[in-house]
Amino acid sequence: MAKRALRLAPSLLSADFAAIGAAVREAEAAGADAFHLDVMDGHFVPNLTFGPALVAAVRRHTKLPLDVHLMIEEPTRYFDVFARAGGTTLVFHLEARADPEALLQLGHSLGVEVGAAIRPDTPVDRVWPWLDRLDQVMVMGVNPGFSGQKFIPEALPKLRAVRQRLDATGSSADLSVDGGITTETAVEAARAGATFFVCGNSVYGRGTVAENLADLRSAVRRGSQGAVR
Ligand code: DX5
Ligand code: ZN
Repeated sequence: MAKRALRLAPSLLSADFAAIGAAVREAEAAGADAFHLDVMDGHFVPNLTFGPALVAAVRRHTKLPLDVHLMIEEPTRYFDVFARAGGTTLVFHLEARADPEALLQLGHSLGVEVGAAIRPDTPVDRVWPWLDRLDQVMVMGVNPGFSGQKFIPEALPKLRAVRQRLDATGSSADLSVDGGITTETAVEAARAGATFFVCGNSVYGRGTVAENLADLRSAVRRGSQGAVR
């Protein structure tokens, strides 16, 4: 069956916003596979972050895929601007005020990949109606809004359930896990079938980016070798 490689996506929410170019270059040089950008509107989540201008600024520093996580109430209004800003994958929340069907059509007509995210309190079966057309499913390991939170283990059975369905249909969609990923939880998430690992604090929090990425890389490899597929 078609499967995507294991990929690490540093989350720029944990980087120094005043030195974002340096943060991008450092992680890219250390082998990052993509970057994750957390867009928050102060409505869907309590926090506020940034909009398309920062995505466009990051795009000028790297050719790697940009995974744009839209924690916003009305993603439909903003798909177009984030696609034009250089987003590779636009990830909307299934809890947002939006029609997934319309977003899939819009995203694909704009030439971007489309992902759907679920919060920890959302049952995984909300994903099933769209699964065969999504380019990515994102299972949140924390309640969205802030970096540096502790991983909620209930994400693991959800990852396993999505992995089972993706494999059953031969889908190569990314299975992403976002929030609370450390060298320990990365092993478990990889074992549960995740292929795309969003890492904020575990990359930019302390120590060196290169060492952190190397440690996370070996953790996901270890986990995926034990994966029940
Ligand atoms: C949380 C964001 C995450 C965040 C992850 O709402 O969606 O992408 O940056 O940060 P860590 O890895 O520190 O939990
Ligand atoms: Zn995120």
